[in-house]
Amino acid sequence: MTETDTSTATTTDGETTDVLVVGSGIAGCAAALSAAREGAEVLLLTKATKPDDASTDWAQGGISTTRGDPESLKQDIIAASDGTADPAAVDTLVDNADDAVADVLIDTLEIDFDETPDGDLDYTREAAHSEFRILHVDAATGTHILRPFLQYVDDHERIEVRQDTAALELITNEGRVHGVVSDEEPTGHPIYAGATVLATGGIGTLYSRSTNPDDATGDGIAMAALAGADIADMEYIQFHPTAYDGEDPFLLSEALRGEGAILRNGDGEPFMDDYHSQGDLAPRDVVARAVEAEREATGEVVLDVSPLEFETDYPAIAEKCRDRGVEGDEIPVAPSEHFLCGGIDVDDRGRTSLDRLYAVGECARTGVHGANRLASTSLLEGLVWGLRAGDDATGFDPDVVEAPDLLNRDPDLPARFAAEKFTRLQQTMDEYLGLERDSDEIARASAVLRRLKGEVDAYIRTRTARDLYELRNASVTALLIARAAGENTESTGCHYVATDVDESTAEPTADD
Ligand code: SIN
Repeated sequence: MTETDTSTATTTDGETTDVLVVGSGIAGCAAALSAAREGAEVLLLTKATKPDDASTDWAQGGISTTRGDPESLKQDIIAASDGTADPAAVDTLVDNADDAVADVLIDTLEIDFDETPDGDLDYTREAAHSEFRILHVDAATGTHILRPFLQYVDDHERIEVRQDTAALELITNEGRVHGVVSDEEPTGHPIYAGATVLATGGIGTLYSRSTNPDDATGDGIAMAALAGADIADMEYIQFHPTAYDGEDPFLLSEALRGEGAILRNGDGEPFMDDYHSQGDLAPRDVVARAVEAEREATGEVVLDVSPLEFETDYPAIAEKCRDRGVEGDEIPVAPSEHFLCGGIDVDDRGRTSLDRLYAVGECARTGVHGANRLASTSLLEGLVWGLRAGDDATGFDPDVVEAPDLLNRDPDLPARFAAEKFTRLQQTMDEYLGLERDSDEIARASAVLRRLKGEVDAYIRTRTARDLYELRNASVTALLIARAAGENTESTGCHYVATDVDESTAEPTADD
């Protein structure tokens, strides 16, 4: 990606902070907390106006621990990733997991994780986990973690949380990042920082069906790419196998299958044993493709929750089903975009290839997930890397350099432009860069996306509207996905190239 050409003039007006965090999910909160613990003044900028604007709030299943056996969790992560996860990154995760959970979630935030009748912590299991090791609060864990975490950082004397504020551009000078220009003034507002931590979340809004909030537009990835940061593994987009198949889709946590729910096809038959030796608990990419194949062959797939105490044990999900008029034990499901395994390339402290720029959470590519993420490792990764990056990002003085001075000649651009282009972008991603891709489709997607980005760039030179920048960020991110998908002809994990010999969906079963 080349440097952005949106800056037509420069300015040095603005404000300064020690550490600037962009994003208010678990990774952003953790980075802010650990930087503040080191004595830094922290500004946490977020587009969000309410907690459920962050993907963390939508996380259901839980947060994995090692339960005293890091090696076992490591092996499960590597197996789920099709052998592609970076073992050193996985070590960083598993070696720090239990301390991070104990320190922040249990001792500091005092999260009320579910307990057994004996008063012990109740660990659940999800697909491709060999052990019951996931802490949870029914299946609404993200909400129960994020809300107290946000409150805690907001109350912290060294952290300012500024809501409803988007970062538009990174301020860069000779390979070093000096903060961002936010959308606080009509022409942008420079915020200079000793270090900048991007924690902007995922890319769900690039697809028409996603388990992410609506503002997951790849902002951090696009800004970092435009500033020249290394980006990796963008072809590995995880589709969750069980999102509600109907109006207003929502996630049906893998914890349901972990506790005994069964996928059935349109003929009422369980089918996962035909696809993988782990059956309903196979890795997520395998289950997602199997669900899609069975939907095509038999008309629909449902998640049969009759083996569970569904209403009692999963009240939040049960309520969503009732709200949508789902009756009985069989919930119609279809795959839906869920998580980006790639992103801004970072090391074990969240450092990007640009000086004083960090990335944590879903926008970062740590190497932990490789080509396919194991369930309930995303909150954990955000927590561990957030703490490590926030700690590392302290001790730098902010430098006031020339910042992009954005133009806002015509603030009254019809909102319809961004909305229409977004629909086109989503159609392109759905059609050509979904669960399965082939080289012709990827090439077609690239052509459409390049045209679209050209149109958006023409507008953005003279306008600072947030929805235009989100569209710019989405189109940059979509192009990065198309490029990565085009360059990788091998089917691995979430990247399934349909023209390959179809061996990777099905493991040999007892009948073979
Ligand atoms: C789920 O609850 O199924 C999602 C958990 C995850 O994505 O890690």
